Amino acid sequence: MARAPGRVNLIGDHTDYCGGLALPVAVDLCTEVAFSPTGSPALDLRTDADRSPVTLPLSPPGDHAPGAVPQWGRLAAAVVAQVRPPAGGTVDVRSSVPVGAGLSSSAAFCVGLALALGADAAPPALASLCQRAEAAVGSHVGLLDPLAVTAARPGHALLVDFATLDLDHVPVPEEAALVVVHSGVTRTVGGSPYAARRAECEQAAAALGAPLGRAEEADLARLSGPLRQRARHVVTECRRVREAAAALRTGDLPAAGRCMAESHRSLATDFAATVPAVDDLVAHLLARPGVHGARMTGAGFGGCVVALAERGALDPGAWPGRCWEVRPSAGATREAWGPGRGR
Ligand code: GLA
Repeated sequence: MARAPGRVNLIGDHTDYCGGLALPVAVDLCTEVAFSPTGSPALDLRTDADRSPVTLPLSPPGDHAPGAVPQWGRLAAAVVAQVRPPAGGTVDVRSSVPVGAGLSSSAAFCVGLALALGADAAPPALASLCQRAEAAVGSHVGLLDPLAVTAARPGHALLVDFATLDLDHVPVPEEAALVVVHSGVTRTVGGSPYAARRAECEQAAAALGAPLGRAEEADLARLSGPLRQRARHVVTECRRVREAAAALRTGDLPAAGRCMAESHRSLATDFAATVPAVDDLVAHLLARPGVHGARMTGAGFGGCVVALAERGALDPGAWPGRCWEVRPSAGATREAWGPGRGR
């Protein structure tokens, strides 16, 4: 039985695949995956998100054409192909992580499934395994989500340097409330301009001869047009991640909140990764008393906004749409379960 949390990224978006910095937290919404080995030559998977079960033969594993099984089944097959469990059985998945919201339902699914099937690796290797599974189904994402899901600690944000994969746990002050608000615009990474932005960042890095995560603001003069804007977002975002982490360490929530608000402006203007509903939601949240900062979170192009607020300033129960107050939580875990152990 494995449990893998969703994550919300406090700051540092579209920096992971550029070798930059990010500051995510794992949240107390999670995906639980229970695996009961039966010795059969196939895996029978069920999820509470879809009535139709999926059966995956173990030999040969994976490689299901789009449409042959639902997308979650293709992703499961890609994870199975990576983990290569020795025996089949039944897999039950249930999740409180909303899909298409920017809270990493997909990484929670991959990490939870990989762990339940027996994957045994330290967070960076497990995160890479999940990244390869996502890539196998056409989603060329970075390491942000599976690393946050695997390596987080309760009460802390995770400062990740994607150039070195150095991880640093930054305490989130007790008095900080993290509130996630859905914009109402659902999207998938695959169906968004994510790949186009990533390609622009790669072009900019090639022109500079260095990953954008290590570029300096002075380098930007060597670029022009949209490539310069995309690069400026990445370079300034990495600075803001450092500043926000330092502000959290000293308990300076207003300073951390200012970094988040600036990050949103940069993602809206330089990176063009927001939509009007998300911009309006951020502006609305920033105008509320007790809100230190708010920004889009994750891939963008819809999905959720994260706000850093005083405790009690935002009441999820009174919010007209989907809204969660989340607690910085532990990364993924696995335990044996069965008759007598309960669930
Ligand atoms: C998605 C991807 C991540 C990352 C973010 C943007 O969540 O899965 O790898 O690129 O978008 O920061």
